[in-house]
Amino acid sequence: MSDTDKVFAGSIPKIYDEYLVPMIFSVYAEDIARRVAARSPAVLLEIAAGTGAVTRAVAAALPRGIRYVATDLNEPMLAIAVQRQADDDRITWRQADGMALPFGGAEFDVVCCQFGAMFFPDRVKAYGEVKSVLKRDGTFVFNVWDRIEDNVLTHEATIALEKLFPDDPPRFMVRTPHGYCDKTVIRTDLERAGFRDISIETRSEISRAPSAEHVALALCQGTPLRSEIEARDASKLQAATDIVAETIRTRHGAGAVEGKIQAVVIEARP
Ligand SMILES: C[S@@+](CC[C@H](N)C(=O)[O-])C[C@H]1O[C@@H](n2cnc3c(N)ncnc32)[C@H](O)[C@@H]1O
Repeated sequence: MSDTDKVFAGSIPKIYDEYLVPMIFSVYAEDIARRVAARSPAVLLEIAAGTGAVTRAVAAALPRGIRYVATDLNEPMLAIAVQRQADDDRITWRQADGMALPFGGAEFDVVCCQFGAMFFPDRVKAYGEVKSVLKRDGTFVFNVWDRIEDNVLTHEATIALEKLFPDDPPRFMVRTPHGYCDKTVIRTDLERAGFRDISIETRSEISRAPSAEHVALALCQGTPLRSEIEARDASKLQAATDIVAETIRTRHGAGAVEGKIQAVVIEARP
C-alpha cells in the first residue's frame, strides 16, 4: 500500500460523499445496517466510518437508548459525517486508527466496518484490536470489495487511465480497495486474530449514476486515486477525469449509467 492510499483529505471527502457514496456505498450500508440491527446491540462501535453512510443507516435501524461510537482515521471524513447526521445523542464521533483502538476491553456488542479493512496495513493486528474490544458474545460485521473485474465501472476507469499514463498507470484501485478479497485469506486472518465462528458471503449489487461524468469525477477526484494522479502530473487531473468519462460514455451511453458491483460480506464471532 502506498502512503497516500489511506489519506482521505483535502478535496476528496466532499466529492467522495456527494458522488461516490450514492453510487456504490449506500446500497451496502443498508446491508450492514440490517445485519447490525439483527444483533440488537446496546453498545456498538464503527471503524472507518468515513462520511457516515453506514452510521446513518445503522442509526435509523436501531432504537433509542443504544450507544454508538463512530470512528475514522481521517478527521476530514468525520467532519462531513457530523454535518450530515441529524442531532442524535446516541452517537459519539471520534478520530481513531483501526490499528490501535482507544477503547477498553470487551466494551461493544457489535463492531462494524464498511470497506475499511483493505486500508489496514496489518489485518491480523486490526482484527485482534476488534476482538479485544468486543464482548465475548459480540459480532464483528464488515465488508470488503471483491475483485476489480467484478466492479465494472471502477475496472473500466482503471483501464482508461492506462492510456494517459502508459508507463506508470495509477494502480490505487487494484492495489487497495480491490486488493483484499480472497475469502481464504480473510478467514485465515480472522482465525489468526482469534475469531472462530466466521461466515463469509459474496454480495452483488448494481451501481447507478446519472452520467459518465459523475462516475469519472467520483472515482478520479473523490478517492485517493486523485493523489496518485496528481503525484504523476497535477496538471493532468482534469484530463484523467475526462478520459475516464469518455470511456464510460462510449461503453454505457450519454445518459444514466449502471454497472455491476460486488463485495464480500463477513460476520465473525470470537
Ligand atoms: C472507502 S472509505 C469507507 C468509508 C465508509 N465506511 C463508507 O462506507 O463510506 C475507507 C475509509 O477508511 C478510513 N481509514 C483508512 N485507514 C484507516 C485506519 N487505519 N483506521 C481507521 N480508518 C481508516 C478512511 O479514512 C476512509 O474513511
